[in-house]
Amino acid sequence: MTKLKVMTIFGTRPEAIKMAPLHRALSTCPDIEALCAVTAQHREMLDQVLSLFSITPDHDLNIMEPGQSLATITTKALSGLDALFSREKPDLVLVHGDTSTTFAGALAAFYHKIPVGHVEAGLRTGDKYAPFPEETNRTMVGRLADLHFCPTGTNRENLVREGIQNGLFVTGNTVIDALRLTVAPDYAFSTPLLQSLPFDRERIILVTAHRRENWGQPFSQILDALCHLLDTFPDVRIVLPVHPNPAVSDMIHDRLGAHPRADLFPPLPVHEMHNLMARCHLVLTDSGGLQEEAPALGKPVLVLRRETERPEAVTAGTVKLAGVDAGVIFSMTSELLTDPAAYSAMAQAVNPYGDGHASRRIVQAILWHFGRSPDKPEEFRAL
Ligand code: UD1
Ligand code: UDP
Repeated sequence: MTKLKVMTIFGTRPEAIKMAPLHRALSTCPDIEALCAVTAQHREMLDQVLSLFSITPDHDLNIMEPGQSLATITTKALSGLDALFSREKPDLVLVHGDTSTTFAGALAAFYHKIPVGHVEAGLRTGDKYAPFPEETNRTMVGRLADLHFCPTGTNRENLVREGIQNGLFVTGNTVIDALRLTVAPDYAFSTPLLQSLPFDRERIILVTAHRRENWGQPFSQILDALCHLLDTFPDVRIVLPVHPNPAVSDMIHDRLGAHPRADLFPPLPVHEMHNLMARCHLVLTDSGGLQEEAPALGKPVLVLRRETERPEAVTAGTVKLAGVDAGVIFSMTSELLTDPAAYSAMAQAVNPYGDGHASRRIVQAILWHFGRSPDKPEEFRAL
């Protein structure tokens, strides 16, 4: 029997981190010819991940340009993938999450009548502008996809509510598979500044922020809160790997660049980032991925957004929504810094998003769907 030709498409750092373990699992499956195509919507940040997970893409559209617009990413990715699918004719295209690459990949495959598998399907806030444009991207991909790999039961329920009945699998999130490859208790940092961080003397707050809906005023509020925290707590250090988008990086460098207890880094290699997260005191972030990773590592997370499509860790008690008001961010962080009971209530390792076997389940679901295996994968159930 000929092998099933499965093409994995991604373009940004988080997609790459979450697709890497799946691409690895697909590549070792004897019934599958695993191909990888990147749009390179991100360039350096994507290349960091490709190199750390030893992935050499079969195709690279290299579309990134400074200050790119949503329309530019989508049109360049769509036309590039259209040509690629004409040549390669994959049996299945896999896209991940909610970026412009995800949407363009699913749409291009649909135009070729190629089945689409959506990894990290079914996350919803219910507000089409929050996060922008991700909520609408993932909703549209939900309509285009044939196979929906939902990390959690809640994600599946969201799709069922939208009338999607078939091709649903609850697999866990591949980000937990990735964490198992990167985090080690005896990990030694290779970035000199990380090696010299005073984990035993100072409380390290790991911060990331980049979301489009936070650009401008909300970002300024976040930075006000960080400055206030540094001024109030002399044993607190802010460690902030800065997203290279000038819409956010210029403001961060202007406000925090000169502070002796704010360490600003260029994007960190993912092994460094995950092990830093494992050793920090707490996390402030507007990132989706960090909301999943930090709970698995037992770190409290305050989310710098008004809503989240990842309610499971909020329910488990390790994540709270802090929003984008400087006073609220300051007071919620202060509580965690001054009240040991409040801190330990949030600092428990929970894994509502996965058990490290999501990639295996997704491969098994693909084989079952295409009649290559009689066995449907078992569902992921949070412990
Ligand atoms: C994108 C995704 C977002 C995801 C985020 C992860 C969309 C619409 N947005 O947002 O969902 O959460 O990635 O980080 O798909 N840049 C570089 N080098 C890089 C990457 C980016 O210089 O390696 C700069 C470029 O100037 C680029 C800009 O950042 O134009 C914005 O990149 P873009 O992918 O458009 O948006 P993100 O904010 O990264
Ligand atoms: N990350 C990284 N280096 C960094 C910052 C983040 O490897 O300097 C990882 C992080 O651990 C997570 C992913 O990148 O796995 C999140 O990416 P990002 O915040 O850009 O996107 P989002 O998750 O919000 O879509």
